[in-house]
Amino acid sequence: MCAIYPVGVKISVVTMFPEWFGGPLSVSIVARAIEDGALEVDLVNLRTYGLGRHKQLDDAPFGGGPGMVMMVEPLVNALTPLEETHRVLFTPSGTPMTQATLDRWASTPEITFVCGRYEGVDQRVIDNHIDEEVSLGDYVLAGGEVAAVAAIEGIARLLPGVVGNPESTEKESFREGLLEEPVYTRPADYQGWTVPEVLLSGDHARIETWRLEQRRRRTVERRPDLLRDGSDSET
Ligand code: 6GU
Repeated sequence: MCAIYPVGVKISVVTMFPEWFGGPLSVSIVARAIEDGALEVDLVNLRTYGLGRHKQLDDAPFGGGPGMVMMVEPLVNALTPLEETHRVLFTPSGTPMTQATLDRWASTPEITFVCGRYEGVDQRVIDNHIDEEVSLGDYVLAGGEVAAVAAIEGIARLLPGVVGNPESTEKESFREGLLEEPVYTRPADYQGWTVPEVLLSGDHARIETWRLEQRRRRTVERRPDLLRDGSDSET
């Protein structure tokens, strides 16, 4: 008999909206990863670190301009106990999150996700308490919470033992730099909508050739950037 020691990831999420995470953490793969002990998620309510009677978190930017800036002191007080973790700030000004980012985080034992809000975070917090700034993509959301949930789900499905079929996390979009081919299941004919004949042929060599060709065609059409520069790799 040997004890099995859980290998996993502990994620602290610093957010003004901890209640926002209730749904995403309680469903499907993420819920299973937490139940299995492979994943731990600690929600840190930033509001509890707010200043004064109103628990203030933001103030007007020096130099003027629209919007509000998240203040230094509440964030430093929330992040000081988390100094030993890998601290990520989610912001549209960060580097884009890719599969390579998630692969790296899935083997980082302790991570902190800071969800930015308002127009931004006082740069002194970033300079002294943030290891990495990451964005979900080239569009603007109201805050980093959606990015944190995306990252948590992407990490959870990579943790050992969480997905039933270990092959399924390796042979998928982005790992080989190509998008996935179209897939079909029964019935072979749905009211005249048929399945490509090759998939019913039983000829596995032909099927593999067809699949690779479909993946290349899709990638050329939709994501030529993947063919040019292998932009998914961080190395
Ligand atoms: Cl991480 N935050 C916000 N507010 N907007 C975003 C984003 C993050 N990533 C893309 N857009």
